[in-house]
Amino acid sequence: MKLGDALPAVRSPIPAAAGQAWVERLAASECPALTTRRKRREEQTGANHDPIVWVEAQGANVIDADGNRYVDLTSGFGVAFVGHRHPDVVAAVKRQADRLLHALGDLQPSDVKVELLERLCGLAPWPDARAMLSLSGADAVTAALKTAVMATGKTGVVAFEGSYHGLTYGPLAVSGYAERFREPFRAQLQSDVHFATWPEQRVSVDAAIATLPQDWSNIGAVIVEPIQGRAGVRLPPTGFLEALKRTCEKNGALLIVDEIFTGVGRCGAWWRSVEDGVVPDVICVGKALGGGLPVSACIAREDVMRAWGAPDREAIHTGTFYGDPLGSAAALATIDLIEREGLAHKAATRGDALAAALRAGGLPKVLEVRQAGMMLGLQLEAPMQALTVTRALLEHGYLALPAGTSADVLQLAPPVTVSEAQLEGFVASLRDVLEEL
Ligand SMILES: Cc1ncc(COP(=O)(O)O)c(C=O)c1O
Repeated sequence: MKLGDALPAVRSPIPAAAGQAWVERLAASECPALTTRRKRREEQTGANHDPIVWVEAQGANVIDADGNRYVDLTSGFGVAFVGHRHPDVVAAVKRQADRLLHALGDLQPSDVKVELLERLCGLAPWPDARAMLSLSGADAVTAALKTAVMATGKTGVVAFEGSYHGLTYGPLAVSGYAERFREPFRAQLQSDVHFATWPEQRVSVDAAIATLPQDWSNIGAVIVEPIQGRAGVRLPPTGFLEALKRTCEKNGALLIVDEIFTGVGRCGAWWRSVEDGVVPDVICVGKALGGGLPVSACIAREDVMRAWGAPDREAIHTGTFYGDPLGSAAALATIDLIEREGLAHKAATRGDALAAALRAGGLPKVLEVRQAGMMLGLQLEAPMQALTVTRALLEHGYLALPAGTSADVLQLAPPVTVSEAQLEGFVASLRDVLEEL
């Protein structure tokens, strides 16, 4: 079977000598928090948590420094939706590399940057859209938060408990994921943020909206993930996003939808929020957009973006590498691929089938399977259980991530190109792992 569609081939222990040598070099050169994390995880689960070291990836397969082969059900944090190193993306990057690697950003753009902006605006749910390119998800969220200030003149933000929008200062201030992430930096964070309760699916929309603040006089934006990813694939009640949008309209605030994880086809549609029946004011996109290269964007209605001022003035928001030619070429190839091969639709049907297979027969220790397209969260019985399960899965050759603030959710976000045999192998391995737990 060709690399990409192959089943795992793993020889224990992992990491073995070559991987271990890299891990030691990493521990001696990277910020020591990594070493602390390995130790803490070992104490919590009683198992070795040294990482494998990636040296190659193709499709759904990853090869480590010891020559072991894995099946990646994380897509590398949701990035490789079209599979790792898709030939179309690689070819586009190579062609671009032979022509132009870097241009002069917002002063003198490259041709591919313009093409990417046009494509993104064409994909937006408004007849007239404008976009700002950047590199990371956090960059796109920063641009969105600033856009809301420019457009409304109000600096307050409503965000949600459990939300994850990135860890640079602007996004961190509105990330309700866990207090421990914000605590050391509290004095440097924007303080006018109101964290509302994230509603479980069974909560009524009215009850959910009732937890929002009463005083909207200085609130310029509500920022929301259509499905909370890192918090454990938590879906809101049907109609919640629409109700949020109405609340924003009533109070003169913008609805920023963070589609960095959910967008670009991952959840079965180009935009999860639009599929849910809401047209936001601002959309953030990243992760899968670049097909493996760092590309992100903040897209908004033209009348919202116009608030940044006339183009004859100095650009007060830009970045040296924003809209870089290589990333732009990769994103254009990725968008083409998703559209040409109907990959959003494919994610919907394949995700439904995977969820059905996981629910069939009932997996031990799994309380619930939550799913939208190729984004799945398996609710486990106890805190920290996902750490043990992901490690055991790694030893079986399957990469999955722990999620939830107390690591009680197993998160799956496979490439849409993952093969049937790879998914069947995973379900069988997961059953073994859970039975042994
Ligand atoms: C919903 C969401 N927003 C923002 C981010 C931050 O993206 P980045 O890590 O590229 O800054 C993430 C990353 O996981 C995310 O899942």
